[in-house]
Amino acid sequence: MQVLRNIGVLATCRAPGGQAAIHPIPGAAIAWENGNIVWVGRESELPPAHGETPSQDAGGRLVVPGLIDCHTHLAFGGWRADEFTQRIEGKSYAEIGRSGGGIVSTVARTRGMAEDALVERCRGFLNAMVRTGVTTVECKSGYGLDRETELRLLRVYRRLQEDGIVSIIPTYLGAHVVPPEFRENRESYLSLVIDEMLPLIAREKLAEFCDVFVEAGAFNIEESRRILLRARDLGLGRKLHADQLTSGGGAELAAETGATSADHLECISSQGIARMAEAGVVAVSLPLASLYLNHKPLPARDMIDTGVAVAVATDFNPGSAPSHHLPMAMMLACTQQRMTPPEVLKGTTLYAARAIGRERVAGSIEVGKRADFAVIDASDVTEWMYYFQSNACVMTVAGGEVVWGEV
Ligand code: NIG
Ligand code: FE
Repeated sequence: MQVLRNIGVLATCRAPGGQAAIHPIPGAAIAWENGNIVWVGRESELPPAHGETPSQDAGGRLVVPGLIDCHTHLAFGGWRADEFTQRIEGKSYAEIGRSGGGIVSTVARTRGMAEDALVERCRGFLNAMVRTGVTTVECKSGYGLDRETELRLLRVYRRLQEDGIVSIIPTYLGAHVVPPEFRENRESYLSLVIDEMLPLIAREKLAEFCDVFVEAGAFNIEESRRILLRARDLGLGRKLHADQLTSGGGAELAAETGATSADHLECISSQGIARMAEAGVVAVSLPLASLYLNHKPLPARDMIDTGVAVAVATDFNPGSAPSHHLPMAMMLACTQQRMTPPEVLKGTTLYAARAIGRERVAGSIEVGKRADFAVIDASDVTEWMYYFQSNACVMTVAGGEVVWGEV
């Protein structure tokens, strides 16, 4: 048993009350045992039985649930700094993709990387993320696009999960784009994804979700529907990169196919918002991608007002979002998406957990959930997001273990 005392404010992020309700407890303490939370409340009410337990002192700081980055493309080869400059000079993301850059250039570099080297690189990224308070990361494949490399990426994620520090949720994104060797033969690539890869991945439990990039230049609605319905039949969860560059009915398809989340959504239609609300699909907003590509942000206010849960994630990848700094994405969600700091915190905790099917075990500080939390050097949630420090997180606890810092 361990206890964290002297918490200035504990933002529990329990479910009731919607996006802005983070259910803070002032002057709080948390007790945990065997990796799970066993008591939460005001320190003055800590049961005497916990009084003798060795304890840590939060120094009167803010404590939040371990942050969840519910959308990343963590494993990839190389970088694409050249495209960063090309976009500054006026080329669009779509133009760069059409002229041989973009996703396929990362695919070439990822295919050339050995499994061990990918694991080491990802460990470096995760290590940096943990130091900002992150304890759970969703990780997509999608830079292999052939059988061998896609499986290698999913094995990398399995090894990262076995490291036992960050909780990893693997997603198969074979439908990222059609790889160059299949460009004249889309149907064969669809068959590889639908008839070969998805059954294999489901059988070997290599991924929990199947994701599709629904976009002109990637996969159209009809192709995406076929992939997502096959994933559903095989018992895999569904996610979509939807309505990012154009409004193409991706949000509506997410609702139709019972997806857990639809992500990006900068160009979502009002009908798409209504359909997502009805079907309970989580909207994953990716403010770093919107900002790096100089796109308008998604209409988060309309979504929240319509009853859609809005999560916030980094989209970490070498093209549209070359940063894994979730607290920066959170600050941008406030300023660009007009979400309040409590709304953003719920979007990176409980609603992010919902976006990856982990609401029962993570995303809030409640008895029975995993002891994942972060001690933040701020007096409250608003001050944290307003005063953007290089790193406000002074300690991260994952599964009951201190994985970063000390107080
Ligand atoms: O989420 N939109 C599609 N995929 C990624 C970007 C991938 C890349 O540019 O390499 C995204 O933004
Ligand atoms: Fe993405």
